Amino acid sequence: MLTKKDLLGLRDTSAEEICEILDVADEMRLFLDGKSKKSDLLAGKSLITLFYENSTRTRTSFELAGKYLGASEVNISAATSSVQKGETLIDTGETLDSLKIDFIAIRHPMAGAPALLSKHVKASVLNGGDGMNEHPTQALLDMLAIRRKFGKIKGLKVAILGDVKHSRVAKSNLFGLRKLGAEVYMYCPETLMPKALDKLGAKIAKSREEAVEGADAVMGLRIQLERQHGGLFPSLSEYSRFYGVNDAVMKYAKKDAIILHPGPVNRGVELTPSLIDGEKSEILEQVTCGLSVRMALLKLLAEYREAHL
Ligand code: CP
Repeated sequence: MLTKKDLLGLRDTSAEEICEILDVADEMRLFLDGKSKKSDLLAGKSLITLFYENSTRTRTSFELAGKYLGASEVNISAATSSVQKGETLIDTGETLDSLKIDFIAIRHPMAGAPALLSKHVKASVLNGGDGMNEHPTQALLDMLAIRRKFGKIKGLKVAILGDVKHSRVAKSNLFGLRKLGAEVYMYCPETLMPKALDKLGAKIAKSREEAVEGADAVMGLRIQLERQHGGLFPSLSEYSRFYGVNDAVMKYAKKDAIILHPGPVNRGVELTPSLIDGEKSEILEQVTCGLSVRMALLKLLAEYREAHL
């Protein structure tokens, strides 16, 4: 049983809760791999996806997760909502609450926006990515993909290379993977490496090779050009040459190591196309894991609401 009405981040989610979410996500995967994708587990419940930033994977999989489990589902895009008329986040949340919504999946450019919203609504808030803070459902799906491949997370080495500074995915993965006992190595240009990550348990590598040496999973992170204001590295081609992951770098990883990327990928920048499309790639498996993780979260939060609200 989860211990809170919301899923705001993995910093404040326990190892036991993470394991429970992954276990239920495995059950959801059996359902997804079956003949029918229709369940009435969440019949009578309602989900709104409220996205203030673009998304393909997160928004679509939240929507499908709700639909497959029998919930009513509505999408609000900030571009076509009353946000454009100046409505505040809290007013929007209170409006949705008045519509008797059970779940709000939100993505927002401001760190902390889902936490703020959660204080003002009765609905359960699921963080679909807030600024440079956290993207907990992404990290949960990454952990699920790793666990499904290796049968465990404890004792594995995960190397994360890319735009760590702007990455909410890196932070949520660091919190979650460390709680489940993995080692997390990070590598990127110094200008893209936040100062205090080692204090949160990351091992900061001095080279690509050190990061990837003996790794079980190698995760590329998208270079977030939209969040960069000023030259943090000379050019995309130089980034790819000196910091990207290619076949030569992957020779340092374990033989059965997997390639991960949250997507969307800048092909040929963080990872070479040969790795993205190659046999080690679990990138599309991550997308399916995203659907089962979000279904699991809706089920578990519905149970919490039934018991506590
Ligand atoms: N990984 C991820 O969050 O992808 P989207 O931006 O497509 O949702």
